Amino acid sequence: MPRNPIHPMSTAPHNDPSADAEAAPLRFADHDTRRVSLIIPTFREADALPHLIDRLRAFHADSGYELQALIMDDPSGDGSDTIVADTGLPWLNYVGRTGPRGLSAAVVDGLARAEHPYVVVMDADLSHPPESIPALLDALDNGHDFVFGSRYVKGGSTDDDWGLGRWLNSRIATILARPLTHLKDPMAGFFAFRKSLLDQADHLNPIGYKIGLELLVKGHCTRPGEVPIHFTDRVHGESKLSFKEQLKYIQHLRRLYIFKFGTWTHLIQFLAVGTLGLGVNLAALTVLLVLGVPEIPAIAGGIAVSVVSNFLLNRRFTFSYARESSWLRQFLGFCGACALGAGVQFAVAAYLVHTYPDFIPQLAATIGVVAGTAFNFIANRYLVFKKQHVRLNDVPEA
Ligand code: GDD
Ligand code: MN
Repeated sequence: MPRNPIHPMSTAPHNDPSADAEAAPLRFADHDTRRVSLIIPTFREADALPHLIDRLRAFHADSGYELQALIMDDPSGDGSDTIVADTGLPWLNYVGRTGPRGLSAAVVDGLARAEHPYVVVMDADLSHPPESIPALLDALDNGHDFVFGSRYVKGGSTDDDWGLGRWLNSRIATILARPLTHLKDPMAGFFAFRKSLLDQADHLNPIGYKIGLELLVKGHCTRPGEVPIHFTDRVHGESKLSFKEQLKYIQHLRRLYIFKFGTWTHLIQFLAVGTLGLGVNLAALTVLLVLGVPEIPAIAGGIAVSVVSNFLLNRRFTFSYARESSWLRQFLGFCGACALGAGVQFAVAAYLVHTYPDFIPQLAATIGVVAGTAFNFIANRYLVFKKQHVRLNDVPEA
């Protein structure tokens, strides 16, 4: 099994000019004893656990940390519980979860049990080197409020056998999270923060895998950092990151966007649906023409189809918080708002060309479109799809 000796490069906090990467000494034992709760989500890791425990035992001895390691198992039914119990280590606890299985849920449960001021989350499969924990904590002490063990900052790395597929996957996931954070590896499951962060974290409601991203965003972290780590491919057992879990990431991202950007997220979705509507309109028009429908009714048909599809998409996604209300009333309201929006569009453009004879008609029409769309959005957001009490924390069950 590849080991990760503590290389100076892999322990220097990133973004920290005061840290002299070359000269950084091994960090063990040059601090007051640190008290660390280590949360390790675990599912069917009986093959990896003995190796993990060996590494943790060595780390515990070398670091001198006061450690509370929580093996948050989902129960795997593979003897993981006995493996942990047989060690007899007082600082190593097995927690057999009940309730819905899930990596993020396991971490959230672990947070409730964490007793120490520093919290570190890491995988059980030894992809994350425990020896890098001091570097993560140093970065916290140097002013960061949330620190990821990162594969993508200078000095970080992954094993060579990462296929293109996995690499691309990880990169695309990171790019999608860009509006939420500029970190290079916010997808990592290896991160540290002070437990006190939880006092300022809004209602945690993660789905899927990205509990680190959830804590970063909902914890209102302002000074996140990354320290380089070497990410080792798992040697024992199998990955649990299924395609289904990856789809949940999109859902999770949407929730985080809504949390962070509120109404702006609704506007962006509304505009995206509108743009898609143009495509739907043209596609329906083409189909009707191919079916032999005359042009005028075909144009009307294209509009009707796109109005219905826009309504359905806006109800399902853009304004999903209002999905419980009557769809019929919402549909009529939506059509009314669209019709009035078209009226506003016309009125604004007509007013401009009428009042200022030199006004370029195309520019007037464009301003009309913007005004009509703004009207349309505001009417839908605050009247048609209104919610009694819209609070930022009311993140919809998407
Ligand atoms: N309790 C519990 N319940 N633990 C789980 C579950 C679950 O449903 N699913 C996975 N785990 C545990 C695994 O046992 C492992 O310790 C850890 O969570 C990560 O799962 P892996 O199956 O090893 O996932 P991965 O290696 O594909 O994903 C890792 O890398 C990703 C970035 O490439 C994780 O660190 C992800 O968080 C990270 O995004
Ligand atoms: Mn893994």
